[in-house]
Amino acid sequence: MKKIRAAITGIHSWVPEYRLTNFELSKMVDTSDEWIMQRVGIKERRILKGEGLGSSDLGANAVIGLLEKTKTSPDEIELLICATITPDMFFPATANIISDKAGIKNAFSFDIGAACSGFLFALQTGAAYVETGKFKKVIVVGADKMSSITDYTDRTTCPLFGDGAGAVLLEPTSEEYGVMDYIFHTDGSGRKYLHMKAGGSIRPASHETVDAKEHYIYQEGQSVFKFAVVNMADVAAEIMERNNLKADDIAWLVPHQANLRIIDATGRRMGLPPEKVMINIQNYGNTTAATIPLCLSDYESHLKKGDKLILAAFGGGFTWGSIYLKWAYDPEKK
Ligand SMILES: CC(C)(COP(=O)(O)OP(=O)(O)OC[C@H]1O[C@@H](n2cnc3c(N)ncnc32)[C@H](O)[C@@H]1OP(=O)(O)O)[C@@H](O)C(=O)NCCC(=O)NCCS
Repeated sequence: MKKIRAAITGIHSWVPEYRLTNFELSKMVDTSDEWIMQRVGIKERRILKGEGLGSSDLGANAVIGLLEKTKTSPDEIELLICATITPDMFFPATANIISDKAGIKNAFSFDIGAACSGFLFALQTGAAYVETGKFKKVIVVGADKMSSITDYTDRTTCPLFGDGAGAVLLEPTSEEYGVMDYIFHTDGSGRKYLHMKAGGSIRPASHETVDAKEHYIYQEGQSVFKFAVVNMADVAAEIMERNNLKADDIAWLVPHQANLRIIDATGRRMGLPPEKVMINIQNYGNTTAATIPLCLSDYESHLKKGDKLILAAFGGGFTWGSIYLKWAYDPEKK
């Protein structure tokens, strides 16, 4: 019997309208367009404005668009997984809220929190359900409202992050398309370099934690950079080697968008020319679990059936990993 694989059969992304530019940021903190472009490569990021709106709104917009685009009824969806580190609330899961907002009634749903590697971990989890043969339509969505945990008085973190969401539909195929292989890693000792200090069970929210600004991203940028640049490049190279893939075989590297220098280093390590590397960090910044589906969505018209893609990410935790994916459709035929 042929192995059942999980193929991406549709993709859609959604970002809020409001653009926070480097010029605007330079009026809020002591920074400049030149510094941000040189060190990170971001021009602007999207921010979700409005009372009562959260990551589920970003995710639901992506999912509703995906259902329309793929002509799928919400009733057909059996499972929805949301990768996020900015859930609407501690509980219930943001995935449940997205399902409700998108009219998905027959699915079970849950969240995965693996920071910037979240979409990859969720994609593989969704694929594993499809590969059992029991699930025919699974949605994986990455959604993060990073502006909700960003301190806009801290110049070392506020230029880096933005809000966004991207969703994919996974369906079974007996052909050689879809998720082909994955390599994932976690090193919890890295948590000291990148975390949120308060609001969890160790240090619940109090006046003191709010006054001390402990509900924002805490990052030791240089340490994170050193781990990210080595591990993301290494894991991408490792998955190529394990699958006997040479640079010429690969159509695209789809890297997590945290810093242009990390992306460039990963592409170089894989021996890929820059034109094979998906880059949209300049438009959105680091949207955490949404960067990879946002890239796939922006580049969808360039993708062809059979294209071999390497997805790679590094994030808080630390978490990092890579997926080898064979693209399953020609977009113009959709
Ligand atoms: C955050 C990051 C862009 C900082 O770049 P860097 O080259 O490491 O810069 P440093 O932290 O060494 O800071 C260099 C100087 O720039 C200053 N600086 C920091 N942010 C600045 C800003 N926005 N504008 C102007 N100057 C800034 C620092 O204060 C420091 O000044 P000093 O030398 O006078 O002390 C970089 O470390 C990075 O991308 N890290 C990884 C982030 C990441 O990937 N995180 C998510 C994981 S998915």
